[in-house]
Amino acid sequence: MNFCELIRRKRNRGRLTQKEIQELVSGYTMGRVPDYQMAAWLMAVYFRGMSADETIALTMAMMNSGKVFDLSGLIGPKIDKHSTGGVGDKVSLILAPLVAACGVKVPMVSGRSLGHTGGTLDKLAAIPGFRTDLKFEEFRENLEKVGVCIMGQTRDMCPADKKMYALRDVTATVDSIPLIAASIMSKKLAEGIDGLVLDVKTGTGAFMCRIPQARRLARTMIRIGTKMGKKIVAVVTGMWEPLGETVGNAIEVVESIEALKGNWRMDLEEVTLALGEEMLIMAGRAHSYAQAHRLLLRALTQGKALEKFRAMVKSQGGNPRVVDDYSLLPQAKHSVAIMSRSAGYVRTIDALQVGLLGVELGAGRKKIGARIDQSVGFAFKKKVGDRVEQGDVIVEVLASSAKQGEVVAEKLREHIVISKSAPRNGGRVIARLTKL
Ligand code: URA
Repeated sequence: MNFCELIRRKRNRGRLTQKEIQELVSGYTMGRVPDYQMAAWLMAVYFRGMSADETIALTMAMMNSGKVFDLSGLIGPKIDKHSTGGVGDKVSLILAPLVAACGVKVPMVSGRSLGHTGGTLDKLAAIPGFRTDLKFEEFRENLEKVGVCIMGQTRDMCPADKKMYALRDVTATVDSIPLIAASIMSKKLAEGIDGLVLDVKTGTGAFMCRIPQARRLARTMIRIGTKMGKKIVAVVTGMWEPLGETVGNAIEVVESIEALKGNWRMDLEEVTLALGEEMLIMAGRAHSYAQAHRLLLRALTQGKALEKFRAMVKSQGGNPRVVDDYSLLPQAKHSVAIMSRSAGYVRTIDALQVGLLGVELGAGRKKIGARIDQSVGFAFKKKVGDRVEQGDVIVEVLASSAKQGEVVAEKLREHIVISKSAPRNGGRVIARLTKL
């Protein structure tokens, strides 16, 4: 096949057939298509887009580039949740055990942090001994025994996505709707799930900054999932300020455990429960949002969700005592407080800038494979809409050196706006898309 012709056709707004897309993806995975040709094709897609049929063909080619898990032998519905990526997004750590505590199997293949967005696997890695590099057999066994398992992509799962994502990351082709949709859906469909609830983030800290774009991404993923015979819904949620009150790794684990104990910020609770309601309805465990909501709250107040988290940590090799003793998690050496210089209300805390400054602290990576510092991050004492008096602490910067903490604190101050009047608070859940 002449790959240069495929690039030219896409560049000239033409369409590719399923066979051509299949050949291009398998050729790239096997090394027959070099990086420079794939990079050029990705850039052509970035500018010209893809039709619905092309996007589905790309998803299938990526999914079939590796192993597709078969969980059909497991009894009960298997429902996963996936977020398109945000800042302070620790929802998976809370939601997966919570929904499993309501009797739904939650097989979750998650990612690491990249760019300004955090990653579930990096947060879980803060728990001493916790393993996410599981084999499929262990994944299946944990799902059978505990009902929930969170692991990383195995070596043989969607290798095309691994290679293409790494290339997109260094060729400015990440924020393309068909490429994001195919990347996410190929991995999710390879998990062997029955249904998927998508958390499509929008706002400064998301890949889709504007709401109409996020809705388009959501609809594209719903179309792919439906075509592949899966149940799929999307919840569009705001990512203008970080979610919850922490950003980092160990510190987000603490906030997640506290949430499972019933102590959480309203925005984190709102997003987690909205996604949980969709999962329970999809699994047939509830018939309405109100009923699903009650079931979730009961699992929390009865301590079942926390016990499920403890069981998940234990089954994946982690120290379950972290649930009661946070000192077992990595601790930052230095803390620098940012105090308000005036009285008023917090109007803005820019999620993108917090994410980027988190990377500067070492909480995320600038390059694939770079080591991260689990102990650093941010602890917000005030959130958008909160009243502040002059001298109140807005956020504590947790750093590995006092100097670094000071530098980051100085930069972060620029991205926190205090105003005289209270901003309007519309909540985090913007839309629930259950049908095309
Ligand atoms: N997450 C993914 O897995 N892929 C993308 O392209 C973007 C976010």
